[in-house]
Amino acid sequence: MKQRQIVSIDQIRQQEEICAQIFERITAGGQRPLAMVDTYGCQQNEADSEKLRGYLAEMGYGFTKDEFQADVIVVNTCAVREHAEMRVLGNVGALNHSKKARPGQIVAVCGCMVQQEHMAEKIKKSYPVVDLVFGPHELWRFPALLDQVQTGRKRVFSAAPSEGAVAEGIPLQRDGNGVKAWLSVMYGCNNFCSYCIVPYVRGRERSRMPGDIIAEARALVAQGCRDITLLGQNVNSYGKDLPDGVDFADLIRMINDIPGEFRIRFMTSHPKDATEKLFQTMAACEKCCHQLHLPVQSGSDRVLKRMNRCYDREKYLQLVALARRYMPDLVLTTDIIVGFPDESEEDFEDTLSLCEAVRFDAMFTFIYSKRVGTPAATMPDPYTRADKQRHFDALTALANRISAEKHRAYEGQTLRVLIDGETGKDDYNLASRTDGGRLVHLKGDPSLVGRFAEVRITASNTWALYGEINESFEF
Ligand code: 5AD
Ligand code: SF4
Repeated sequence: MKQRQIVSIDQIRQQEEICAQIFERITAGGQRPLAMVDTYGCQQNEADSEKLRGYLAEMGYGFTKDEFQADVIVVNTCAVREHAEMRVLGNVGALNHSKKARPGQIVAVCGCMVQQEHMAEKIKKSYPVVDLVFGPHELWRFPALLDQVQTGRKRVFSAAPSEGAVAEGIPLQRDGNGVKAWLSVMYGCNNFCSYCIVPYVRGRERSRMPGDIIAEARALVAQGCRDITLLGQNVNSYGKDLPDGVDFADLIRMINDIPGEFRIRFMTSHPKDATEKLFQTMAACEKCCHQLHLPVQSGSDRVLKRMNRCYDREKYLQLVALARRYMPDLVLTTDIIVGFPDESEEDFEDTLSLCEAVRFDAMFTFIYSKRVGTPAATMPDPYTRADKQRHFDALTALANRISAEKHRAYEGQTLRVLIDGETGKDDYNLASRTDGGRLVHLKGDPSLVGRFAEVRITASNTWALYGEINESFEF
């Protein structure tokens, strides 16, 4: 087993000392400067942005969503598909206007996109508006990097290749109203699916120690959090790098044992690490939601093999059957890529037939996007963008039809939900989630946010359910 790289508590303390120095400097005039954090991509990035905000709050910054009001702008980027990168570059380029209007404004770009050397170079050359660039491995020392820019008045680029480390103790400013929280349990990915940039930019799999995770979960529950989502790029391979043999199912059980009324969810799971023990544990732990996001990516054995997914169609179907045997009410969602290099009509038909067979509750569908440096980027591909779009449209239509049918089946049922926020709309003013994670719109008093309720489902569409709160239910 390789030595785990740890960023020590002392190193984080040093960063907090730098936060204190920045605080002295920027609040000296009696004003509270403002920062803006703009996040792209997955939940892991959302969780990272909570750390960036935690540091910024310690530095004394307030927060704004208006780039013309911000003294510091941090753009936390994603590299999974080209589309997200194009959006980032467009939006970063447009910051020229706010920087002109607000001299001294600092623009930082961080996250997966800039961990790719060619992207860091592109920003260095073509985006002079950017003062600071740092990759995901440098996030823990964001205060030191920002301090260098502020005191040195020079551009700072820090995104050296790295296998990654585990840093504990970074302050967090969590999103939302405290009802739901992300909890990262591991970082990185070892799978090297042939299309995916993640292992190159986020480093190798590394798990947090169970004690640190449990302590964070306990604190969340004590603060009133009712819904904890355990996060990892490949969450169910948790523990493989730990010395004491704790696996992901054990971790769920330990969190389930924390007293209090709350739910546990997790994402994203890889089929190759989805075990019977995991399904048994999910079924046995009363706080664990019967919800599984299990990306299949393709229904064709030929494509799965070239994607390096380490399972075939049959194995996936067996896994789904096993999971449903333990949890007949399982809500199952997936990711699918269409237009992988050389994906034929027949391969695509296999994907359609797998989706018909499984009947996912929701499917997240993507057109393949070439990522520089991945094996798939050099695979020959005779198919056109129009072929891929046609397949994408057909798959989306199938996904929407099945989601709508599954939602319709809830009508008339009574379900437990957690009311987790207000919608801002007059007719259905509250948003809630079922144990399976389906969105239910409700009408009710805003003071119910943060409470569990029993609701009768009265209507539905492709994306959501609509319900009425059961008044006789004891809160
Ligand atoms: N092109 C398109 N989709 C991708 N994904 C990952 N890499 C690519 C890519 N190069 C999708 C996968 C993954 C989800 C997060 O993004 O479906 O599960
Ligand atoms: Fe990418 Fe595959 Fe890792 Fe998911 S499991 S992050 S698709 S390499």
